[in-house]
Amino acid sequence: MHPRKDILLLPGYTPGRSINTVKEATGLSNIVKLASNESLWGPSPKVVQAVQDLGQTLLYYPEVKPSNLLNHIGASHGLDPALLFLGNGADEILRLVASCFVDPDTEVIYPRPSFAAYAHATQIFGGHGVAVPLTADGAVDLSQVLRAITAKTRLIYLCNPNNPTGGAFNQDQWERFVAQVPDNLPVVVDEAYREYVQIPDYPNVESLIVQGRSFIMVRTFSKIYGLAALRLGWAMAPAPIIDWLYRVREPFSVNLAAERAGMAALEDSEWITRARHETWQMRTMLIDELERLSFPTWPSQANFVTFKVPGSSTYWAQALESRGYIVRATDSFGLPGHLRVSLAPEPIMRGFLNALRDISPPQPS
Ligand SMILES: Cc1ncc(COP(=O)(O)O)c(C=O)c1O
Repeated sequence: MHPRKDILLLPGYTPGRSINTVKEATGLSNIVKLASNESLWGPSPKVVQAVQDLGQTLLYYPEVKPSNLLNHIGASHGLDPALLFLGNGADEILRLVASCFVDPDTEVIYPRPSFAAYAHATQIFGGHGVAVPLTADGAVDLSQVLRAITAKTRLIYLCNPNNPTGGAFNQDQWERFVAQVPDNLPVVVDEAYREYVQIPDYPNVESLIVQGRSFIMVRTFSKIYGLAALRLGWAMAPAPIIDWLYRVREPFSVNLAAERAGMAALEDSEWITRARHETWQMRTMLIDELERLSFPTWPSQANFVTFKVPGSSTYWAQALESRGYIVRATDSFGLPGHLRVSLAPEPIMRGFLNALRDISPPQPS
């Protein structure tokens, strides 16, 4: 067999460890997963009901372009549904974008440390990844991104707020970038954590997409809406890009449970508002406590906090696992010596902090 050389070179995804794996490894019955930035507030009970109500409708294929859900997203965010696209999680959309624009031996720019999907999608289609460092506060450095553009650049991925650091660029920085980035160069702005942002001057990408600029805003139902298991993401882009994305997408990639759950989730805005406020409270609390315990933190705008640990991150991740808490060592993102922990309701956060306090730092070898 002769697989393509790019496939053989792919590192493969490093997922957060699952609750089952850690239960088996530790023998503990109560494990809390804080490793993949799911919302521990969970989906609204109305979402759970909507999924239970699916009943016999499961026999039908889902709609290829579910207009109900597209209209709901459009109405909730004040966006034209004709400019919206749905995918099997934001992950699928990030890869579909690469499949539309990346030819072998062209270049794709993305931040590092950042979400691994950008490098992965680039490599699948034979592109060369050009990784640019972050700003000191862990946001994508847009001036570095501009400097990395060459005649071979076909696509740019931006992550705002950035995973795993949590920093976000603002409207002013974005406007300076927009004024200089070549007009027809596709730029993905991955806003998976947008609902958690508190800075008042967070950039508005949507208004430029309406004007036809080649920007692709990517969003997800996996975070604040609590639907990670169902795989539902969406994007906004100019009409020609939406058309190309539908051409490459598997027709039924958004399943009926995801569609119904997505609609119910958008309808329960009170649930989302509460999850957002409590996440903000826990973000402040956790950052304060970690700093008090002498773990330096990144200033997060997302539903996670990443902090530096003395010695190896694996030592700390394993010690936390043996106390029932799965967190993420961020080495595979390009950030060694750090742990990323998802925010969760207060009793869980207090339990996590107690477990952390219980661990003795590794002895220098
Ligand atoms: C920045 C970023 N983009 C996209 C995703 C994937 O989202 P989805 O679950 O919708 O595929 C994640 C998940 O952690 C993420 O951190």
